[in-house]
Order: sequence, then C-alpha cells, then structure tokens
Amino acid sequence: KQRVLTGITTTGTPHLGNYVGAIRPAIEASKSAQLESFYFLADYHALIKCQDAERIKLSRKEIAATWLALGLNTDNAVFYRQSDVPEIPELCWLLTCMAAKGLMNRAHAYKAVVAANEEAGEDPDFGVTMGLYNYPILMAADILMFNANKVPVGKDQIQHIEMARDIAARFNHHYGNHFNMPEAVVDDKGSILQGLDGRKMSKSYNNTIPLFLTEKQLKKHINKIKTNLLEPGEAKDPDTSTVFQIWEAFASAEQTAQMRDKFAGGIAWGEAKRELFELVNSQLGEAREKYFELMERPADIEDVLQHGASKARAVSAPFIEKLRQAVGLRTFV
Ligand code: TYM
Repeated sequence: KQRVLTGITTTGTPHLGNYVGAIRPAIEASKSAQLESFYFLADYHALIKCQDAERIKLSRKEIAATWLALGLNTDNAVFYRQSDVPEIPELCWLLTCMAAKGLMNRAHAYKAVVAANEEAGEDPDFGVTMGLYNYPILMAADILMFNANKVPVGKDQIQHIEMARDIAARFNHHYGNHFNMPEAVVDDKGSILQGLDGRKMSKSYNNTIPLFLTEKQLKKHINKIKTNLLEPGEAKDPDTSTVFQIWEAFASAEQTAQMRDKFAGGIAWGEAKRELFELVNSQLGEAREKYFELMERPADIEDVLQHGASKARAVSAPFIEKLRQAVGLRTFV
C-alpha cells in the first residue's frame, strides 16, 4: 500500500490555506482503501517559531480538533503528535549526519529570516536558531520515519520534500536501501491560497481567515479581503482577485465558471463577498459545530491522540531498530 503523510505546525489557529493546501486533500486520501495515511501535529517544529508554551498547548488542541471536526476517520488514519514519537528525533540525528550543510544553506525558511535581517540592517543571523536551520532535517525525519510515498502540502513546502529525498538518497547510498523517495502532492486549486492582503495566507503575515469562526466573524473577515477600487458595473479581473481565488478553491467547476461570468459582468465587490461567505459557510458550517463541541472535550481528543501514538510507534520502533543496526549501533552479542 502507498503511504500518505502530512503535518501542520502547531503555532496558530488553522486557516483556510491549511485546509485547502493540506487538510482537505489529506482527509480525502484517508478514505481510499489503497492508501495508508499518517497525519500529525508538528509540535516539535512549533518550538522553532514560538516560545509561548500556552500558545503551543492551545494550538495543538485546536489543530487536533480541526482534523477531527472535518471528519478524519482515525480508524483508517494514524493521527498523532510528533512529540509522542521519540523515534522521530532519533532519526533526525541519523539524518543530520547525512545532510550536507550546503543543502541546508539553501532552505527558504532560514533564508527568509536572513534576508529580512539584511534588509533591516541587522546581523544576518539575528534570531536564527539551529532549530530553524535544521528545520528541513526534522521534516525529513517525519516523512522518512514512516516511509511515506505521497506528501500532500501547499507549494511552500515542496523544497522541504526535495531535501528529504536528497537526504534519503544519501542515507540509502551509505547504508543500503531503507527509504522510499517521497513525493509532494500539490492541489492546483489551493497551491498557494492568498490572504486578506493578497499575499500568501500565512500565520506569520497575520492575514489569515481562520477555519472556524462564528458566521458573524467569518463574514467580517471576508469583508476585509483587499479589492481594487472598481465600481459595481465595471468588469473585474478574476485572475488577480483574492475573492475569486478563494471562491475557486471552494467552488465546483460550474460555480467557478459562473463567477467568472459575473466578474466580467461587473459584479459589485460587496455582492461577490456575500456569495463567497455563503459558499464557505455552507461547506464549513457543520464542521464548525463539531469543532466547538470537541474543544470542550479535551480528554476525548487526548484519547484519540494517545491511540494514534501507539499505532505510530508500532511502525516507528521496529524501523528505528533496523536503522540503528544499519548504521552500526548494535549490541555486542
Ligand atoms: P504549516 O504549518 O506552515 O502549514 C501546514 C500546511 O498548510 C499548507 N499551507 C497552505 N496551503 C495553501 N495556501 C496557503 N496559503 C497555505 N499556508 C499553509 C502548507 O503548505 C502545509 O502543507 N513544515 C510544515 C509542517 C510539517 C510537515 C512535515 C508537512 C512538518 N513536518 C512533514 C509535511 C510533512 C509546515 O510548517 O506547515
């Protein structure tokens, strides 16, 4: 069976970008009898960006509740916290010893911080921890620990998966064929969903539309999406519009074609946003109820995750043993 695996960093409240780029395709994949799915909360990764322990704790609960509310069936999928699987950081070390520093120098996540420092006239390494620098190696360990074949992600993560392949190939070269070559699976519709200001929707830009808002708040957020100054009656360009892009990520092909016509016909921004609200609300309304219910039942979420951790470790523990043997960490007798 092919394995699908993906994770979300637990630093913030999940947003429409996470949903469209990762969670929705992952839940879809988990329904296939041909696939085995591994989905997790990347809480070790969260420590790289966030030193607020309460925030991390809340975000883990929110993200877990999100997957469950959206209908992840945890009998089919293995659903766990990265930090409940100690074999992952152990594998991370084995891979660190295989990862070329030159390769890590090219990682976007690290380079973006250096570039921002340079622009601000700071020391380029200001605020750069070894955690940030090694981020792609920990991500490679997440993927390779379960020998995933497919990794559904947004476009921003493709480079990390290429790095995982590179590191896996180097390990295989030295120690024999242990790892598959994982592939990124990017959904064209939501490969990079735009946020309120038109840039990539991202926790770090503070421009997100959280997945589970009350109807009133959802409406308010959608109304804040930046548009140009064209008046009602003036034709609008769908391909440069965030309203249209989010519409497309949620609509059927037929609904998308209809909205394209309305843009050409000069639909008022207020009206386009009202329709967008109706569409998103109709798709998320039911899950929202479940989400708020689950957030009141942390013990149930904990149970699900403990069960997931034991299923994950049934795979990771024997595999790490095999890898320890492969690199020469063996008992003497
Ligand atoms: P993170 O937490 O930043 O994002 C989680 C997932 O959501 C996708 N995403 C988006 N997709 C479309 N449009 C957007 N605006 C948007 N914003 C975020 C991301 O591409 C991602 O798929 N390093 C990862 C977490 C991780 C991981 C892994 C993923 C750790 N280990 C192993 C896959 C496999 C991250 O920080 O994602």
